Amino acid sequence: MFGLTRAKKAAAVGAAAAAAAATALLTAPSAAAAPQPIVGGTTTTTSSYPFMMQITDASQNQFCGGTLVSPTKVVTAAHCMVGETTGSVRVVGGRTYRNGTNGTVAGVSRIWIHPDYTSATRGDDVAVLTLSSSMPYTPAGYVSSTDTSVYAAGTTARILGWGTTSSGGSSSNQLRTATVPTVSDSSCRTSYGSRFVQSDMVCAGYTSGGVDTCQGDSGGPLLIGGRLAGITSWGDGCAAAGYPGVYTRLTTFSAQVTAQVNG
Ligand code: ARG
Repeated sequence: MFGLTRAKKAAAVGAAAAAAAATALLTAPSAAAAPQPIVGGTTTTTSSYPFMMQITDASQNQFCGGTLVSPTKVVTAAHCMVGETTGSVRVVGGRTYRNGTNGTVAGVSRIWIHPDYTSATRGDDVAVLTLSSSMPYTPAGYVSSTDTSVYAAGTTARILGWGTTSSGGSSSNQLRTATVPTVSDSSCRTSYGSRFVQSDMVCAGYTSGGVDTCQGDSGGPLLIGGRLAGITSWGDGCAAAGYPGVYTRLTTFSAQVTAQVNG
């Protein structure tokens, strides 16, 4: 739903859900898939992943994920910040449930969106938020520009989020996590053609699908070896065979992120 305002994102998800429901009626009696986490995976908590932030609107409704990388800096996706202003967003830490009221809420004093960003499928899908107050949670480390070997095909990566548990489905109230293998650039190119921008993106998922990030997980982390190595960005559907999730290739942007973290 990149490139759309949040209202449009919600409308698009609603339309997709309605279409999916109509399709389900038409295609019954095939058994409905059991609701699944992220898509595939398990519930977890922000105690287990203290750097995992909810990006919310001013009413604390979560719409994207983010990763705390210093007490006042959060890495998220540029497409999550389209149409947002410092006054329209909040960052919430220590809140495992979307409908929770606990944890720490911070305002945002600055939004840096990669200057070349236009849409998620063209790359540069990275943003850094500066918080108005410090988060009392341990930040995540992130890859440096020379760490490109972390993306070697087949490496286990962890995904996290409150996003929908199926394409066009509803968001998860509790934080979810799953692991997925990274996919080679050539294979991702086969899936997505010229929309796969190798310098800016990395793919992860099983050949057969079944486990993936989905709508609402955007901006959240792809962790490799416990460090932030990617940002949930886009994909065709969710968890579909042959269409892995696409993540921002953080090694390409880590120097720019560091400039923001230190700036
Ligand atoms: N663009 C989505 C969002 O805004 C994330 C989609 C990830 N899709 C996927 N198949 N991995 O939340």
